[in-house]
Amino acid sequence: SQGILTYDPGFMSTASCSSNITYIDGDAGLLYYRGYPIEQLAEHSDFLEVAYLLIHGDLPNAEQKEKFVNTVTRHTLLHDLMSNFYRGFRRDAHPMAVMVGTVGAMSAFYRDSSDSFDAKQRQVAAYRLLAKVPTIAAWSYKYNVGLPFMYPQNRFNYAENFLYMMFATPAEDYEPNPILARALDRIFVLHADHEQNASSSTVRVVGSSGANPFACVAAGIASLWGPLHGGANEATLTMLEEIGDASRIGEYIRRAKDKTDSFRLMGFGHRVYKNMDPRAAIMRQTCHEVLNELGLHDDPLFKLALELEKIALEDDYFVEKKLYPNVDFYSGIVMRAMGIPNSMFTAIFALARTAGWVAQWMEMVSSVEQRIARPRQLYTGPVRRDFVPMEQRT
Ligand code: SDX
Repeated sequence: SQGILTYDPGFMSTASCSSNITYIDGDAGLLYYRGYPIEQLAEHSDFLEVAYLLIHGDLPNAEQKEKFVNTVTRHTLLHDLMSNFYRGFRRDAHPMAVMVGTVGAMSAFYRDSSDSFDAKQRQVAAYRLLAKVPTIAAWSYKYNVGLPFMYPQNRFNYAENFLYMMFATPAEDYEPNPILARALDRIFVLHADHEQNASSSTVRVVGSSGANPFACVAAGIASLWGPLHGGANEATLTMLEEIGDASRIGEYIRRAKDKTDSFRLMGFGHRVYKNMDPRAAIMRQTCHEVLNELGLHDDPLFKLALELEKIALEDDYFVEKKLYPNVDFYSGIVMRAMGIPNSMFTAIFALARTAGWVAQWMEMVSSVEQRIARPRQLYTGPVRRDFVPMEQRT
Protein backbone atom coordinates (compact mmCIF):
# COMPACT_ATOMS: atom_id res chain seq x y z
CA SER A 1 0.00 0.00 0.00
CA GLN A 2 1.88 3.03 -1.24
CA GLY A 3 -1.04 5.39 -1.18
CA ILE A 4 0.31 6.81 -4.43
CA LEU A 5 -2.24 8.60 -6.51
CA THR A 6 -2.03 7.90 -10.22
CA TYR A 7 -4.42 9.47 -12.63
CA ASP A 8 -5.57 8.06 -15.95
CA PRO A 9 -5.23 10.41 -18.93
CA GLY A 10 -8.89 11.21 -18.52
CA PHE A 11 -10.59 13.37 -15.99
CA MET A 12 -9.68 13.09 -12.29
CA SER A 13 -12.98 11.33 -11.61
CA THR A 14 -11.23 8.02 -12.26
CA ALA A 15 -8.15 8.54 -10.08
CA SER A 16 -6.80 5.38 -8.42
CA CYS A 17 -4.76 4.69 -5.31
CA SER A 18 -3.82 1.68 -3.15
CA SER A 19 -4.58 1.61 0.57
CA ASN A 20 -4.94 -0.78 3.50
CA ILE A 21 -7.54 1.22 5.36
CA THR A 22 -11.09 1.01 3.96
CA TYR A 23 -12.74 -1.48 1.62
CA ILE A 24 -15.97 -0.84 -0.25
CA ASP A 25 -17.88 -3.31 -2.44
CA GLY A 26 -20.33 -0.97 -4.20
CA ASP A 27 -22.37 -3.72 -5.86
CA ALA A 28 -22.83 -5.69 -2.66
CA GLY A 29 -23.12 -2.61 -0.44
CA LEU A 30 -20.22 -3.57 1.82
CA LEU A 31 -18.03 -1.19 3.86
CA TYR A 32 -15.13 -2.45 6.01
CA TYR A 33 -12.68 -0.38 8.12
CA ARG A 34 -9.43 -2.37 8.30
CA GLY A 35 -11.51 -5.49 7.53
CA TYR A 36 -14.22 -4.92 10.16
CA PRO A 37 -17.79 -4.52 8.76
CA ILE A 38 -19.27 -1.09 9.45
CA GLU A 39 -22.40 -2.72 10.92
CA GLN A 40 -20.33 -4.42 13.68
CA LEU A 41 -18.28 -1.30 14.43
CA ALA A 42 -21.42 0.87 14.59
CA GLU A 43 -23.01 -1.55 17.05
CA HIS A 44 -20.09 -2.60 19.25
CA SER A 45 -17.35 0.04 18.96
CA ASP A 46 -17.09 3.80 19.51
CA PHE A 47 -15.61 6.65 17.51
CA LEU A 48 -12.24 6.99 19.23
CA GLU A 49 -11.72 3.23 19.08
CA VAL A 50 -12.53 3.34 15.36
CA ALA A 51 -10.18 6.31 14.91
CA TYR A 52 -7.42 4.25 16.57
CA LEU A 53 -8.27 1.32 14.24
CA LEU A 54 -8.11 3.53 11.14
CA ILE A 55 -4.81 5.15 12.18
CA HIS A 56 -2.97 2.15 13.65
CA GLY A 57 -4.53 -0.76 11.74
CA ASP A 58 -5.96 -2.81 14.64
CA LEU A 59 -8.52 -2.44 17.40
CA PRO A 60 -6.71 -1.24 20.58
CA ASN A 61 -6.44 -3.44 23.67
CA ALA A 62 -7.68 -1.96 26.94
CA GLU A 63 -4.35 -0.30 27.81
CA GLN A 64 -3.85 1.11 24.30
CA LYS A 65 -7.39 2.45 24.23
CA GLU A 66 -7.11 4.12 27.64
CA LYS A 67 -3.82 5.81 26.67
CA PHE A 68 -5.21 6.95 23.30
CA VAL A 69 -8.47 8.30 24.76
CA ASN A 70 -6.58 10.12 27.53
CA THR A 71 -4.19 11.68 25.03
CA VAL A 72 -6.97 12.90 22.73
CA THR A 73 -9.06 14.12 25.69
CA ARG A 74 -6.16 16.18 27.04
CA HIS A 75 -5.61 17.92 23.71
CA THR A 76 -9.14 19.24 23.14
CA LEU A 77 -8.29 22.81 24.17
CA LEU A 78 -7.18 25.29 21.51
CA HIS A 79 -4.25 27.71 21.83
CA ASP A 80 -5.98 30.67 23.48
CA LEU A 81 -5.04 33.07 20.66
CA MET A 82 -7.02 30.90 18.21
CA SER A 83 -10.26 32.16 19.73
CA ASN A 84 -9.39 35.55 18.18
CA PHE A 85 -9.90 34.04 14.71
CA TYR A 86 -13.64 33.80 15.25
CA ARG A 87 -14.01 37.53 15.84
CA GLY A 88 -12.66 38.14 12.36
CA PHE A 89 -15.63 36.37 10.78
CA ARG A 90 -19.11 37.79 10.19
CA ARG A 91 -21.60 36.40 12.69
CA ASP A 92 -23.38 34.52 9.89
CA ALA A 93 -20.20 32.85 8.60
CA HIS A 94 -20.94 29.25 7.57
CA PRO A 95 -19.30 26.85 10.05
CA MET A 96 -17.42 25.20 7.17
CA ALA A 97 -15.90 28.56 6.21
CA VAL A 98 -14.73 28.96 9.81
CA MET A 99 -13.37 25.41 9.93
CA VAL A 100 -11.42 25.69 6.68
CA GLY A 101 -9.72 28.84 7.99
CA THR A 102 -9.21 27.83 11.60
CA VAL A 103 -8.00 24.26 10.99
CA GLY A 104 -5.57 25.57 8.39
CA ALA A 105 -4.34 28.14 10.91
CA MET A 106 -3.42 25.32 13.33
CA SER A 107 -0.19 25.10 11.31
CA ALA A 108 0.69 28.55 12.66
CA PHE A 109 0.22 27.39 16.26
CA TYR A 110 1.40 23.78 16.41
CA ARG A 111 4.59 24.02 14.41
CA ASP A 112 6.22 21.40 16.66
CA SER A 113 3.99 18.79 15.00
CA SER A 114 3.72 20.00 11.43
CA ASP A 115 6.75 18.25 9.89
CA SER A 116 5.12 15.53 7.79
CA PHE A 117 8.36 13.56 7.46
CA ASP A 118 8.93 12.90 11.18
CA ALA A 119 6.94 9.87 12.38
CA LYS A 120 6.50 11.11 15.97
CA GLN A 121 5.40 14.55 14.82
CA ARG A 122 2.96 12.97 12.39
CA GLN A 123 1.22 11.08 15.16
CA VAL A 124 1.11 14.14 17.43
CA ALA A 125 -0.43 16.18 14.62
CA ALA A 126 -3.00 13.47 13.88
CA TYR A 127 -4.02 13.27 17.54
CA ARG A 128 -4.17 17.06 17.85
CA LEU A 129 -6.49 17.25 14.84
CA LEU A 130 -8.75 14.53 16.24
CA ALA A 131 -8.84 16.34 19.57
CA LYS A 132 -9.28 19.94 18.44
CA VAL A 133 -11.56 19.80 15.39
CA PRO A 134 -14.69 19.20 17.56
CA THR A 135 -13.82 22.29 19.64
CA ILE A 136 -13.30 24.36 16.48
CA ALA A 137 -16.61 23.10 15.05
CA ALA A 138 -18.66 23.68 18.22
CA TRP A 139 -17.20 27.16 18.69
CA SER A 140 -18.19 28.07 15.11
CA TYR A 141 -21.80 27.35 16.13
CA LYS A 142 -21.49 29.32 19.37
CA TYR A 143 -20.09 32.25 17.40
CA ASN A 144 -23.01 32.04 14.93
CA VAL A 145 -25.58 32.28 17.74
CA GLY A 146 -23.71 34.87 19.77
CA LEU A 147 -23.19 32.68 22.83
CA PRO A 148 -19.92 32.31 24.77
CA PHE A 149 -17.54 29.52 23.86
CA MET A 150 -17.80 26.52 26.17
CA TYR A 151 -14.49 24.84 26.99
CA PRO A 152 -14.20 21.06 26.63
CA GLN A 153 -14.65 19.04 29.82
CA ASN A 154 -12.34 16.07 30.34
CA ARG A 155 -15.02 14.23 32.34
CA PHE A 156 -17.05 13.66 29.16
CA ASN A 157 -16.44 11.18 26.35
CA TYR A 158 -15.86 12.45 22.81
CA ALA A 159 -19.50 12.78 21.70
CA GLU A 160 -20.70 14.04 25.11
CA ASN A 161 -17.99 16.70 25.00
CA PHE A 162 -19.14 17.87 21.59
CA LEU A 163 -22.78 18.12 22.76
CA TYR A 164 -21.58 20.01 25.85
CA MET A 165 -19.57 22.53 23.78
CA MET A 166 -22.53 22.92 21.42
CA PHE A 167 -25.41 23.31 23.90
CA ALA A 168 -24.08 24.15 27.38
CA THR A 169 -24.02 27.78 28.56
CA PRO A 170 -22.28 29.34 31.58
CA ALA A 171 -25.72 30.16 32.99
CA GLU A 172 -26.78 26.65 33.93
CA ASP A 173 -25.61 23.08 34.40
CA TYR A 174 -25.75 20.85 31.33
CA GLU A 175 -25.43 17.08 31.21
CA PRO A 176 -25.50 15.50 27.73
CA ASN A 177 -28.27 12.94 27.17
CA PRO A 178 -26.30 9.64 27.08
CA ILE A 179 -28.62 8.10 24.48
CA LEU A 180 -28.21 11.07 22.15
CA ALA A 181 -24.45 11.08 22.77
CA ARG A 182 -24.29 7.38 21.88
CA ALA A 183 -26.28 8.04 18.69
CA LEU A 184 -24.01 10.96 17.78
CA ASP A 185 -20.94 8.80 18.40
CA ARG A 186 -22.40 6.22 16.02
CA ILE A 187 -22.91 8.97 13.40
CA PHE A 188 -19.22 9.85 13.83
CA VAL A 189 -18.30 6.17 13.26
CA LEU A 190 -20.40 6.00 10.08
CA HIS A 191 -18.65 9.08 8.66
CA ALA A 192 -15.10 8.26 9.79
CA ASP A 193 -13.66 7.08 6.49
CA HIS A 194 -14.77 6.08 3.03
CA GLU A 195 -11.80 5.13 0.86
CA GLN A 196 -10.85 7.55 -1.94
CA ASN A 197 -13.79 9.97 -1.85
CA ALA A 198 -13.20 13.48 -3.16
CA SER A 199 -12.09 14.99 0.16
CA SER A 200 -9.78 12.12 1.14
CA SER A 201 -8.19 12.22 -2.29
CA THR A 202 -7.77 15.97 -1.81
CA VAL A 203 -5.94 15.38 1.47
CA ARG A 204 -3.66 12.89 -0.28
CA VAL A 205 -2.90 15.18 -3.22
CA VAL A 206 -2.12 18.11 -0.92
CA GLY A 207 -0.08 15.90 1.43
CA SER A 208 1.91 14.40 -1.44
CA SER A 209 3.79 17.70 -1.77
CA GLY A 210 4.91 17.50 1.88
CA ALA A 211 2.40 20.12 3.03
CA ASN A 212 1.73 20.05 6.77
CA PRO A 213 -1.17 17.91 8.05
CA PHE A 214 -3.21 20.89 9.23
CA ALA A 215 -3.17 22.39 5.71
CA CYS A 216 -4.04 18.96 4.26
CA VAL A 217 -7.09 18.54 6.51
CA ALA A 218 -8.17 22.13 5.80
CA ALA A 219 -8.11 21.24 2.08
CA GLY A 220 -10.18 18.14 2.82
CA ILE A 221 -12.73 20.28 4.67
CA ALA A 222 -12.97 22.59 1.67
CA SER A 223 -13.65 19.67 -0.68
CA LEU A 224 -16.17 18.05 1.67
CA TRP A 225 -18.20 21.29 1.79
CA GLY A 226 -19.50 20.82 -1.75
CA PRO A 227 -23.24 19.89 -2.05
CA LEU A 228 -22.37 16.84 -4.14
CA HIS A 229 -20.17 15.55 -1.29
CA GLY A 230 -20.47 16.22 2.42
CA GLY A 231 -22.67 19.28 1.86
CA ALA A 232 -25.41 16.89 0.70
CA ASN A 233 -26.64 16.29 4.26
CA GLU A 234 -27.52 19.96 4.64
CA ALA A 235 -28.90 20.04 1.06
CA THR A 236 -31.07 16.98 1.76
CA LEU A 237 -32.76 18.68 4.74
CA THR A 238 -33.31 21.82 2.66
CA MET A 239 -34.85 19.64 -0.08
CA LEU A 240 -37.14 17.78 2.36
CA GLU A 241 -38.27 21.07 3.93
CA GLU A 242 -38.97 22.39 0.41
CA ILE A 243 -40.96 19.28 -0.59
CA GLY A 244 -42.89 19.70 2.64
CA ASP A 245 -45.62 17.14 1.94
CA ALA A 246 -45.77 13.60 0.49
CA SER A 247 -48.22 14.85 -2.16
CA ARG A 248 -45.33 16.80 -3.74
CA ILE A 249 -42.86 13.89 -3.91
CA GLY A 250 -43.91 13.01 -7.46
CA GLU A 251 -43.06 16.50 -8.65
CA TYR A 252 -39.49 16.19 -7.30
CA ILE A 253 -39.04 12.66 -8.66
CA ARG A 254 -40.02 14.00 -12.07
CA ARG A 255 -37.56 16.89 -11.75
CA ALA A 256 -34.77 14.49 -10.73
CA LYS A 257 -35.39 12.49 -13.92
CA ASP A 258 -35.66 15.54 -16.20
CA LYS A 259 -32.31 16.00 -17.93
CA THR A 260 -33.18 19.61 -18.68
CA ASP A 261 -33.46 20.26 -14.94
CA SER A 262 -30.25 20.54 -12.90
CA PHE A 263 -32.10 19.30 -9.80
CA ARG A 264 -30.82 16.09 -8.24
CA LEU A 265 -32.42 14.15 -5.42
CA MET A 266 -30.12 15.05 -2.54
CA GLY A 267 -28.98 12.12 -0.43
CA PHE A 268 -29.47 9.72 -3.35
CA GLY A 269 -26.91 8.12 -5.64
CA HIS A 270 -23.25 7.33 -5.24
CA ARG A 271 -20.23 6.88 -7.50
CA VAL A 272 -19.37 3.53 -5.89
CA TYR A 273 -22.51 2.14 -4.24
CA LYS A 274 -24.88 0.62 -6.79
CA ASN A 275 -26.77 -0.90 -3.90
CA MET A 276 -27.98 0.54 -0.58
CA ASP A 277 -25.21 2.48 1.18
CA PRO A 278 -24.83 0.36 4.35
CA ARG A 279 -24.43 3.56 6.34
CA ALA A 280 -27.85 4.80 5.20
CA ALA A 281 -29.57 1.71 6.62
CA ILE A 282 -27.83 2.17 10.00
CA MET A 283 -28.63 5.90 9.91
CA ARG A 284 -32.32 5.15 9.27
CA GLN A 285 -32.37 2.87 12.33
CA THR A 286 -30.59 5.56 14.37
CA CYS A 287 -33.31 7.99 13.28
CA HIS A 288 -35.96 5.68 14.73
CA GLU A 289 -34.06 5.36 18.03
CA VAL A 290 -33.34 9.08 18.49
CA LEU A 291 -36.84 10.21 17.48
CA ASN A 292 -38.37 7.65 19.86
CA GLU A 293 -36.04 8.80 22.67
CA LEU A 294 -37.15 12.39 22.06
CA GLY A 295 -40.84 11.48 21.68
CA LEU A 296 -40.73 12.63 18.06
CA HIS A 297 -41.66 9.31 16.41
CA ASP A 298 -44.20 11.21 14.28
CA ASP A 299 -41.57 13.62 13.00
CA PRO A 300 -43.07 14.75 9.65
CA LEU A 301 -39.71 15.10 7.90
CA PHE A 302 -38.69 11.56 8.82
CA LYS A 303 -42.03 10.23 7.56
CA LEU A 304 -41.56 12.25 4.37
CA ALA A 305 -38.03 10.85 3.92
CA LEU A 306 -39.26 7.27 4.40
CA GLU A 307 -42.03 7.85 1.81
CA LEU A 308 -39.59 9.49 -0.62
CA GLU A 309 -37.20 6.55 -0.31
CA LYS A 310 -40.06 4.10 -0.89
CA ILE A 311 -41.37 5.91 -4.00
CA ALA A 312 -37.92 6.48 -5.49
CA LEU A 313 -36.88 2.85 -5.07
CA GLU A 314 -40.03 1.77 -6.92
CA ASP A 315 -39.31 4.14 -9.83
CA ASP A 316 -37.77 2.62 -12.99
CA TYR A 317 -35.30 5.52 -13.41
CA PHE A 318 -33.81 5.05 -9.93
CA VAL A 319 -33.87 1.27 -10.24
CA GLU A 320 -32.20 1.32 -13.67
CA LYS A 321 -29.50 3.79 -12.61
CA LYS A 322 -29.10 2.01 -9.24
CA LEU A 323 -29.69 5.16 -7.24
CA TYR A 324 -30.14 4.40 -3.55
CA PRO A 325 -30.11 6.54 -0.42
CA ASN A 326 -26.58 7.36 0.69
CA VAL A 327 -25.13 8.32 4.07
CA ASP A 328 -26.44 11.87 3.71
CA PHE A 329 -30.11 11.01 3.25
CA TYR A 330 -31.09 10.40 6.88
CA SER A 331 -28.18 11.93 8.80
CA GLY A 332 -29.60 15.43 8.76
CA ILE A 333 -32.93 14.27 10.19
CA VAL A 334 -31.16 12.68 13.17
CA MET A 335 -28.97 15.70 13.83
CA ARG A 336 -31.87 18.13 13.41
CA ALA A 337 -33.88 16.13 15.98
CA MET A 338 -30.94 16.57 18.39
CA GLY A 339 -31.28 20.35 17.99
CA ILE A 340 -28.27 20.67 15.71
CA PRO A 341 -28.86 23.36 13.04
CA ASN A 342 -28.66 22.40 9.33
CA SER A 343 -25.58 24.62 8.92
CA MET A 344 -23.64 22.34 11.31
CA PHE A 345 -24.37 19.04 9.54
CA THR A 346 -21.36 19.17 7.20
CA ALA A 347 -19.13 20.47 9.99
CA ILE A 348 -20.02 17.31 11.93
CA PHE A 349 -19.29 15.22 8.85
CA ALA A 350 -15.86 16.95 8.69
CA LEU A 351 -15.27 16.37 12.40
CA ALA A 352 -15.80 12.63 11.96
CA ARG A 353 -13.98 12.34 8.63
CA THR A 354 -10.89 13.89 10.23
CA ALA A 355 -10.16 10.36 11.53
CA GLY A 356 -10.07 8.96 7.99
CA TRP A 357 -8.22 11.94 6.58
CA VAL A 358 -5.39 11.71 9.11
CA ALA A 359 -5.22 7.91 8.77
CA GLN A 360 -4.94 8.14 4.99
CA TRP A 361 -2.46 11.03 5.21
CA MET A 362 -0.25 9.04 7.62
CA GLU A 363 -0.47 5.97 5.38
CA MET A 364 0.63 7.98 2.39
CA VAL A 365 3.47 10.07 3.91
CA SER A 366 4.90 7.04 5.73
CA SER A 367 5.32 5.19 2.43
CA VAL A 368 8.90 5.22 1.18
CA GLU A 369 7.65 5.17 -2.40
CA GLN A 370 5.34 8.14 -1.97
CA ARG A 371 5.75 10.74 -4.75
CA ILE A 372 4.10 14.05 -5.40
CA ALA A 373 0.73 13.71 -7.12
CA ARG A 374 0.92 15.01 -10.67
CA PRO A 375 -2.32 14.30 -12.59
CA ARG A 376 -1.72 13.81 -16.32
CA GLN A 377 -3.95 15.68 -18.78
CA LEU A 378 -5.32 15.07 -22.26
CA TYR A 379 -4.68 18.39 -24.09
CA THR A 380 -7.73 19.41 -26.16
CA GLY A 381 -6.82 23.08 -26.84
CA PRO A 382 -5.66 24.90 -30.01
CA VAL A 383 -2.66 23.67 -32.01
CA ARG A 384 0.47 25.88 -32.17
CA ARG A 385 -0.15 29.33 -33.64
CA ASP A 386 1.75 32.64 -33.96
CA PHE A 387 1.06 35.79 -31.93
CA VAL A 388 -1.41 38.29 -33.47
CA PRO A 389 -0.60 42.00 -33.04
CA MET A 390 -3.45 44.18 -31.74
CA GLU A 391 -4.01 45.98 -35.10
CA GLN A 392 -4.61 42.64 -36.84
CA ARG A 393 -7.16 41.38 -34.37
CA THR A 394 -10.86 41.52 -35.29
C1 SDX B 1 -20.93 11.52 -0.24
O1 SDX B 1 -17.33 9.27 -2.71
C2 SDX B 1 -17.76 9.05 -1.53
O2 SDX B 1 -17.51 7.98 -0.95
C3 SDX B 1 -18.58 10.14 -0.90
C4 SDX B 1 -19.23 9.84 0.44
C5 SDX B 1 -18.19 9.69 1.54
O3 SDX B 1 -18.51 9.07 2.55
O4 SDX B 1 -17.12 10.35 1.42
O5 SDX B 1 -19.97 8.64 0.34
C6 SDX B 1 -20.14 10.97 0.88
O6 SDX B 1 -20.50 12.45 -0.88
C7 SDX B 1 -22.23 10.86 -0.58
C8 SDX B 1 -22.91 11.51 -1.84
C9 SDX B 1 -23.66 12.75 -1.36
N1 SDX B 1 -24.16 13.52 -2.53
C10 SDX B 1 -25.46 13.56 -2.83
O7 SDX B 1 -26.33 12.94 -2.24
C11 SDX B 1 -25.79 14.50 -3.99
C12 SDX B 1 -26.77 13.82 -4.95
N2 SDX B 1 -26.09 12.74 -5.61
C13 SDX B 1 -25.55 12.97 -6.94
O8 SDX B 1 -25.16 14.26 -7.22
C14 SDX B 1 -24.65 11.85 -7.43
O9 SDX B 1 -25.30 10.68 -7.20
C15 SDX B 1 -23.24 11.76 -6.87
C16 SDX B 1 -22.49 13.05 -6.96
C17 SDX B 1 -23.25 11.30 -5.45
C18 SDX B 1 -22.49 10.72 -7.69
O10 SDX B 1 -22.35 11.25 -8.95
P1 SDX B 1 -21.68 10.38 -10.10
O11 SDX B 1 -21.06 9.16 -9.62
O12 SDX B 1 -20.87 11.31 -10.92
O13 SDX B 1 -22.93 9.86 -10.81
P2 SDX B 1 -23.42 10.45 -12.15
O14 SDX B 1 -23.58 11.91 -11.99
O15 SDX B 1 -22.54 9.92 -13.21
O16 SDX B 1 -24.87 9.79 -12.22
C19 SDX B 1 -25.09 8.68 -13.00
C20 SDX B 1 -26.49 8.91 -13.57
C21 SDX B 1 -26.62 10.24 -14.27
O17 SDX B 1 -27.63 10.11 -15.24
P3 SDX B 1 -27.15 9.85 -16.80
O18 SDX B 1 -26.20 10.96 -17.15
O19 SDX B 1 -26.52 8.47 -16.80
O20 SDX B 1 -28.46 9.90 -17.58
O21 SDX B 1 -27.41 8.94 -12.46
C22 SDX B 1 -28.02 10.23 -12.40
C23 SDX B 1 -27.16 11.17 -13.20
O22 SDX B 1 -27.95 12.21 -13.74
N3 SDX B 1 -28.04 10.62 -10.98
C24 SDX B 1 -29.06 11.20 -10.38
C25 SDX B 1 -28.67 11.35 -9.04
N4 SDX B 1 -27.44 10.85 -8.88
C26 SDX B 1 -27.04 10.41 -10.08
N5 SDX B 1 -30.25 11.64 -10.84
C27 SDX B 1 -31.06 12.22 -9.93
N6 SDX B 1 -30.77 12.38 -8.63
C28 SDX B 1 -29.57 11.97 -8.14
N7 SDX B 1 -29.28 12.14 -6.87
